[in-house]
Amino acid sequence: MAARNASPGAGPGHAARSGEVMAQIVCVLGNKGGTGKTTLSHMISHGMALLGKRVVCVLTDLERERLSKDNRLYLPFDARDAGNLAKVVATLNGVGDWFGVIDGGGNRSDTDSHLANLADLVLLPFRDSHEDMRTVQRDLEWMPRAWGLPSQWPADPPGRRMARASLDTQLGAFGQRLLDPIPHLPATKLLLQDRIPAELPWQLTNACVALAMQVCELLDVQYESAKAFAAPRQAPGKPAT
Ligand SMILES: Nc1ncnc2c1ncn2[C@@H]1O[C@H](COP(=O)(O)OP(=O)(O)OP(=O)(O)O)[C@@H](O)[C@H]1O
Ligand SMILES: [Mg+2]
Repeated sequence: MAARNASPGAGPGHAARSGEVMAQIVCVLGNKGGTGKTTLSHMISHGMALLGKRVVCVLTDLERERLSKDNRLYLPFDARDAGNLAKVVATLNGVGDWFGVIDGGGNRSDTDSHLANLADLVLLPFRDSHEDMRTVQRDLEWMPRAWGLPSQWPADPPGRRMARASLDTQLGAFGQRLLDPIPHLPATKLLLQDRIPAELPWQLTNACVALAMQVCELLDVQYESAKAFAAPRQAPGKPAT
């Protein structure tokens, strides 16, 4: 693993630093692969768009392909090339009413350090596994402003109870820096298709909106709620009780 810089992201976010109106940047990072960074970046982007925000979802992961804009409510941007990353960040720094959500790549400390320093909010996803929790513990220590985001979390009550117990044991000291868990939801892979379907399952929509609301609250940003729950919140066909 590459040497880590001291306390990346320890200072105020880039928007706060300048005192000017700039887009806000959320980075989804972490030293463990497969935790859900790419999926969560798209979930946040989709959810924030449903909350009435203008969002660009920035791809930096060299292992991923660029995705089509078709049917997306947000703009996917290919910044696998360092020059393109600098360009999109410079553009975001010049506009006040946009959000940038940057998808980091796994196990790239130097890139994470760079991204954390330009972020207003750093999220560190981790799954219910000993190894993920050990890694996110180190990342939370390394990035004092970052938040842990439980990802692909068990949806069944016994699984949730076991996951909660592991979390309390391994990450109890960071309880105040953890977001609500994102459930294991197979439909999330629809967001990673080149062309997403015109209509997405309501469970996915609601998970994206719930996550985006948490992000807005951490950024201290107001959001519209009207568009958010346009999708049914209950399984179709189930009679209302
Ligand atoms: N909430 C979820 N529910 C179900 N499956 C998920 C969820 N989030 C991610 N996945 C699946 O987990 C796998 C890894 O997700 P993803 O590619 O987003 O992780 P990553 O952190 O970006 O990986 P890498 O470190 O390789 O960039 C993918 O197959 C994805 O579809
Ligand atoms: Mg990825």
